[in-house]
Amino acid sequence: MINPYLRLGVNIDHVATIRNARGGPRPDPLRAALLAIEAGADGITAHLREDRRHIADADMARLKQGISKPLNFEMAATEQMLDIALGVRPHAVCIVPEKRTERTTEGGLDVISAHDYLLAYVDQLSRSKIRVSLFVEPTIEVIDAARSVKAKVIELHTGAWCHAVEMHDAMRAEQEFERLKKAADYGAKIGLEIHAGHGLDYETARRVSALPQISELNIGHFLIGEAVFVGLRETILTMRAAMNEGRVLAS
Ligand code: PXP
Repeated sequence: MINPYLRLGVNIDHVATIRNARGGPRPDPLRAALLAIEAGADGITAHLREDRRHIADADMARLKQGISKPLNFEMAATEQMLDIALGVRPHAVCIVPEKRTERTTEGGLDVISAHDYLLAYVDQLSRSKIRVSLFVEPTIEVIDAARSVKAKVIELHTGAWCHAVEMHDAMRAEQEFERLKKAADYGAKIGLEIHAGHGLDYETARRVSALPQISELNIGHFLIGEAVFVGLRETILTMRAAMNEGRVLAS
């Protein structure tokens, strides 16, 4: 399946990281979300972590109230997060694995071991009309498991590929890209909607945009970092252009 339009979900977590460095209200993640939408973001993504290191509970509620585009709520599959999500009622939830000691989401969700738990978990969200995606490694077994817990969407973890590109490890990068390509193809064939994200910059976003099965990219850290130098609006416009250039090559 070819998706001519590729959505950009802008993750604003690290605006909250900067805010929390001082503990006051600035910079405001909602302001960043509104600016991102004005510049062309198709949705806003925020990760409410168990330790609340960046996004806070009140941010999720303000984002839901304050933005006109879909809110994608990233969270671990805990009972507390389920209650919060059912209260906030975002457009979508992306379930991610979470370790307290990690700097960022290090790998994909272990859907195989947590199968029965996730089946019930996804069901509760879906019954509340919240679209569920699972953040997974690009492997066939995990993608099969994602379908079997009745997730409609998977988000492919692009972190290993982006890391190899950043390290100039060309061989590894090609292997990782092949894994993503196969996973996107397989996932779409078994009827899943395919998203991708983690570690993307202009170059990697351009390349991954050429995979026609992918309908959404979620990008955060790079965009907020670039915004320090050229502003958020300019950064999002350049990212949008990179994605459009890549998509032209999709076949
Ligand atoms: N998608 C998911 C599921 C994530 O957990 C993250 C990181 O919060 C991202 C996308 C965005 O990753 P990055 O901040 O590296 O662009």
